[in-house]
Amino acid sequence: MSFENLKGEVSTILEKEGLSVDERLLQVCTLLKEKISYYNWVGFYFVNGDKDELKLGPYVGAPTDHTIIPFGKGICGQVAVSNQNFVVPDVRAQDNYIACSIDVKAEIVVPLFKDGKNIGQIDIDSNTPDPFTEEDERFLEWVNEQVAEIL
Ligand code: SME
Repeated sequence: MSFENLKGEVSTILEKEGLSVDERLLQVCTLLKEKISYYNWVGFYFVNGDKDELKLGPYVGAPTDHTIIPFGKGICGQVAVSNQNFVVPDVRAQDNYIACSIDVKAEIVVPLFKDGKNIGQIDIDSNTPDPFTEEDERFLEWVNEQVAEIL
């Protein structure tokens, strides 16, 4: 399925006002994992209140011990302070990386902005080496913009 077709499905989920925000985000994670073959773990992290740390939100994929990530730690913690997308073609080449599963080969983290503030991120792990392109970045930026609308 193309990213363009997926956008319609993401919008339909996010418009489900009868569901909580977390339920909608979980459905988005499920959709992306099911429809994009190289997305093997899909989740959202959000800034934990006024603390300098991220807290795991809705996700699909293998359970992770990393439910809290301090700012600056791992790929996620670095994105919390850099405000930039972080595409990792080969996780073994990263020094500041938090391993969740030995199957993971690559990762992409895209920050989520609300009113210009970096309040969280979408995090995708892939078991395929070097799978992410600029198309993934643009698509995930779009997803985060839509999510910000319902927060
Ligand atoms: N690999 C991430 C940790 C989160 S897991 O991928 C779910 C990192 O280095 O920040």
